[in-house]
Amino acid sequence: MTEQTIFPVTNAWAKQARIDRAGYDAMYEAATTNPGSFWLDQAQRLTWTKMPTIAGDWSFGKKDFHIKWFEDGELNVAANCLDRHLDSRGDQIAIIWEPDSPDAEPRRFTYRELHAEVCRFANVLTAQGVVKGDRVTIYLPMIPEAAFAVLACARLGAVHSVVFGGFSPEAIAGRIEDCGSKIVITADEGRRGGKTIPLKANVDAAAARAPGLERVVVVQSTGGDVTMHPRDVWYHEIAGGVSVDCPAVSVNAEDPLFVLYTSGSTGKPKGVLHTSGGYLLWAAYTHEMAFDYRAGDVFWCAADIGWVTGHTYILYGPLANGATTVMYEGLPNWPDASRIWQIVDHHQVHTLFTAPTVLRALMKEGDDYVTRTDRSSLKLLGSVGEPINPEAWRWYHDVAGGGRAPIIDAWWQTETGGIMICPLPGATALKPGSATKPLPGVTLQLVDEKGGVLTGPAEGNLVVTHSWPGQMRTVWGDHERFFQTYFSTYEGKYFTGDGCRCDGDGYYWITGRVDDVINVSGHRMGTAEVESALVLHKHVAEAAVVGMPHDVKGQGIYAYVTLNDGVEGGSDLHDELRAWVRNEIGPIATPDKLQFAPALPKTRSGKIMRRILRKIAEGDTSSLGDTSTLADPGVVDELVAGRIA
Ligand code: WT7
Repeated sequence: MTEQTIFPVTNAWAKQARIDRAGYDAMYEAATTNPGSFWLDQAQRLTWTKMPTIAGDWSFGKKDFHIKWFEDGELNVAANCLDRHLDSRGDQIAIIWEPDSPDAEPRRFTYRELHAEVCRFANVLTAQGVVKGDRVTIYLPMIPEAAFAVLACARLGAVHSVVFGGFSPEAIAGRIEDCGSKIVITADEGRRGGKTIPLKANVDAAAARAPGLERVVVVQSTGGDVTMHPRDVWYHEIAGGVSVDCPAVSVNAEDPLFVLYTSGSTGKPKGVLHTSGGYLLWAAYTHEMAFDYRAGDVFWCAADIGWVTGHTYILYGPLANGATTVMYEGLPNWPDASRIWQIVDHHQVHTLFTAPTVLRALMKEGDDYVTRTDRSSLKLLGSVGEPINPEAWRWYHDVAGGGRAPIIDAWWQTETGGIMICPLPGATALKPGSATKPLPGVTLQLVDEKGGVLTGPAEGNLVVTHSWPGQMRTVWGDHERFFQTYFSTYEGKYFTGDGCRCDGDGYYWITGRVDDVINVSGHRMGTAEVESALVLHKHVAEAAVVGMPHDVKGQGIYAYVTLNDGVEGGSDLHDELRAWVRNEIGPIATPDKLQFAPALPKTRSGKIMRRILRKIAEGDTSSLGDTSTLADPGVVDELVAGRIA
């Protein structure tokens, strides 16, 4: 199979899909030539308490920089996900919850039941003093209460900040403080792959470093032992007898819906802010378009709500569209590599949306785990988070999908709110490894280092030239950083941070990050963040972190560490430093390899030459390129000699 291998639209999809090739072309054209009316039209997907009359109002230029969508519209996001479905599909299942243990019973919530649970949760939050505009930190496992809590915030117009359950107390504290939330919702423990995660204890540790935190609402999940402090309340104790009616607070389209922290190339994680109207519309629009969603399809996005994928494609997109969405507590390969496919069979999943790193891990276990399951319900497969290598693509397509289900390789980012580039099942011939074409309303360009626009087949940096409704609106508390990060590199354009190639058919091939961000198992990690954690250790003088190829994770973390004078770098310190980073940030940030370096390769002006460090980490030491500008070229030989294979 070469890159030019093409998988045409299948007959089955050609017959039934809502949008064919001509339809896509026409829609793309309409969205580009008259975005105002296109988006006001699309806005009809939502139920507004006040219908907007203005679509986009934005400028990416420095002088007049602003981004607004549907600015005179008003709505409630939770009412769009729940209340408006009650008459037509109140008794349809909204959420199928699959527990970690295959022996435990799944739980199902109809739209009516979900509505009641969300209202109850919202009333509890109100009783705890939460009002519109307040930030609420949610640090929960993948249990139904996570969905209730998120939607309860939306119902009140409060701003949720979900923190992934794998993050450390340090990371939680930083996120609580940064967005100024006074309340955290957590659980006693999380459960994943048969192991427990001490969520409440982590919040306790975080609280010591987050003086602004006043209240912790604790959901009982595993029943594990926890220590309750005066600031803590059990959810089940305060929710008993609370009304399941709660009015939905109407908010302006541009009122904030959530903050979600993501790693950047510099410093601490950024609080990506999404607002209510544009984000929800983007979630609903892209969920329907990319997956040709139809009433009755069971949709399973196998992500965690701690990441944007979970926000948009477990909750907001599917629920806005009245879908049945699957929420899974556990790991795709536990107790064994059949689990993911057993869940597909059990719940008759129509669309599965997962990440290449999951596929690579499953692939390693052999095909038997897959072929012993039925999977005939699967009609569509999605891939997200990183470029999918053609081998994994082929396996996903042929083995998992039995050759029947097209693969929707979806490129997007926390910042974009939802999918930007992907094939449509009835419109786009597939090329394994290419996210294919932009959705209608997404205007892309490739530019060179200087900003020159590249046309025709070319490779360059990927930018978006026009705003779209799902675009992030700011970095929480730091609007200047928002502008600097995304709009200052190429004037008047949104810079994605990704490199990309466009082929002769106008297909986009994402080549990966071009900044100091690495993609570990589809999760973003800023190298600067890992470096900052390392240098906090008393023995570390300096650290440089780069990505390296990893056959399951996509990229692994390679750390070069220079120790303080007089400190010896033995295996104890090696292990201690890896554990240190794990503790500071979380397991996903643990360096896969850590090399003690007597010195780092620097230019005469003191800049670390990461290009060289990357080459050494990759094991590509024969082509280190020009090292003549190094202050001390001898450093390189020592690093090569000490490389961790
Ligand atoms: C970065 C965004 C979007 C949800 C999950 C990650 C990479 C994402 C793809 C894809 C190639 C991809 C990009 C992007 N990425 N999807 N289909 N093909 N690369 O969200 O943590 O904000 O990371 O993930 O490098 O910039 P995120």
